Amino acid sequence: MAILEILEYPDSRLRTKAEPVTDFGAELQQQIDNMFETMYEAPGIGLAATQVNFHQQLIVIDISDDKSSPLVLINPKITEKKGVEQREEGCLSFPGVYAKVERADAISVEALDRNGKAIKLEADDLLAVCIQHEIDHIEGRLFVDYLSPLKRDRIKKKLQKLQKSR
Ligand code: NI
Repeated sequence: MAILEILEYPDSRLRTKAEPVTDFGAELQQQIDNMFETMYEAPGIGLAATQVNFHQQLIVIDISDDKSSPLVLINPKITEKKGVEQREEGCLSFPGVYAKVERADAISVEALDRNGKAIKLEADDLLAVCIQHEIDHIEGRLFVDYLSPLKRDRIKKKLQKLQKSR
């Protein structure tokens, strides 16, 4: 396995719209394993393929404290949304940045698992927020898009400064 480089805002590649996964072979399996390793190492609770410059509709999630609930969602679609919730979000592409975002409180999702088998799941609370955040990534959307232009600009300057100082 390998740790992958995570693209950081305002890298324009984060705006790429991912293509559906069609090949579930060894290369994809390796990509999934590498993404889990990268996410756990960061550490984070979700990672979209877009963030590691792999532009297929693939996300990995684990909201547990002990790496016990790995979830792979491929070509995911939200089929139902219920309620509204505001929660503070962070993102591995925005080190040190947190902001409140409003999203659906409960969702239904249809996706494929890592073997291409269809799955349906219901999620609420943190998992629902995480799935919505990651699906945004594969569509080229970022959580700062929900903030005011002023706030977004401030975050952009902060991150550009951080990137220059490395
Ligand atoms: Ni993110």
